[in-house]
Amino acid sequence: MTEAHDAVEVIVAKRDGGDLSDSQIDWVVDAYTGGSVTDEQMSALAMAILLNGMDRREIARWTAAMIASGERMDFSSLSRPTADKHSTGGVGDKITLPLAPLVAACGVAVPQLSGRGLGHTGGTLDKLESIPGWRASLSNEEMLAQLEGVGAVICAAGAGLAPADKKLYALRDVTGTVEAIPLIASSIMSKKIAEGTGSLVLDVKVGTGAFMKELDLARELAETMVALGTDAGVRTVALLTDMSTPLGLTAGNALEVRESVEVLAGGGPADVVELTLALAREMLAGAGREDVDPAEVLSSGAAMDSWRAMISAQGGDPDATLPTAREQHVVTAPASGVLTRLDAMAVGLASWRLGAGRAKLGDGVQAGAGVEWHARPGDTVTEGQPLLTLHTDEPERFDRALASLDGGFDISEAAYHPTPLVLDRIG
Ligand code: URA
Repeated sequence: MTEAHDAVEVIVAKRDGGDLSDSQIDWVVDAYTGGSVTDEQMSALAMAILLNGMDRREIARWTAAMIASGERMDFSSLSRPTADKHSTGGVGDKITLPLAPLVAACGVAVPQLSGRGLGHTGGTLDKLESIPGWRASLSNEEMLAQLEGVGAVICAAGAGLAPADKKLYALRDVTGTVEAIPLIASSIMSKKIAEGTGSLVLDVKVGTGAFMKELDLARELAETMVALGTDAGVRTVALLTDMSTPLGLTAGNALEVRESVEVLAGGGPADVVELTLALAREMLAGAGREDVDPAEVLSSGAAMDSWRAMISAQGGDPDATLPTAREQHVVTAPASGVLTRLDAMAVGLASWRLGAGRAKLGDGVQAGAGVEWHARPGDTVTEGQPLLTLHTDEPERFDRALASLDGGFDISEAAYHPTPLVLDRIG
């Protein structure tokens, strides 16, 4: 039984820069989930938290209260250890697709509960739904059976997992309160701890295409999440990775599935392969299997076998032709020189405007829409050569997509200085 409080008392305490007590936090999260604290009151509290912050104790208690709002899953009956990965969201970030089957092929079970895209970042479920027949919803029993049999599952989080977060996330999205570090950290970690994974690797994105544009803010978010996971008994590490340039050569649902399959077949863009292997090594270490080399497993074809089994187990046809968009528009290089910058946010916005993402929760997405780029920063390009191809079913979308790419890349004679993909490791 939580002690009763008054919503205004809790809001005013945080508005005036005070710390919330454990009992205030337990009460407000529970009362909001149950509906007796209103959306207006929770919006005011979320804004007070964004402006005045929370200390470690408050964030840990808030996370625990969100976990307690729903069910906890339990994978202890599985015959192998579990490891999961969470990315804070980026452009062209399809890494979950090759990573989950790769780590499964290395002998570690991957229970990957994923979401749909909102705004300029794509969602893993939207990408996989471009595979004919594939279904995102599994019961807890189906999930466990697939984890034991195939070793990897990527599916939608059920309604029972951290329902307080589902309600609060939707509210933050429309009240300008997404960016609060205590709220992001507790949102992500409540779901991951409730999911019951034994170890967790966080891919915290930094740069124009990420929530966190600055390295120190990303580091603060990563440290907060690593502490929350560790305190809850989940072995947690974080990699800070660059998101000023989009990953790979594609952004969009079916386009990213195609690129992921190329990686599983032993090819694919070097940065996607590098990040997949870096995260796989961390996941294997967290699960106590650092003896396995994921690069060898990738080149052996075993990860591709796991991918095919994972897709088939959820009704998908791994051999089906992927959907393509009806219309294409090619952007050519306006000059010759070195491509020194391709902005992740510009590409993400263009892909979203072409129909790969949704404007509001519940909208549909186009499977074939998105952006392909034919050069990466550091590549030499010749005036007139295709630089980007835009894909959509609705050609009236091209103008707005082209507008978002305005100023989104530089071609120059200046020397190109690459930034490393993995910027730091916390944990
Ligand atoms: N992803 C989440 O699940 N929650 C956030 O608050 C931000 C990113």
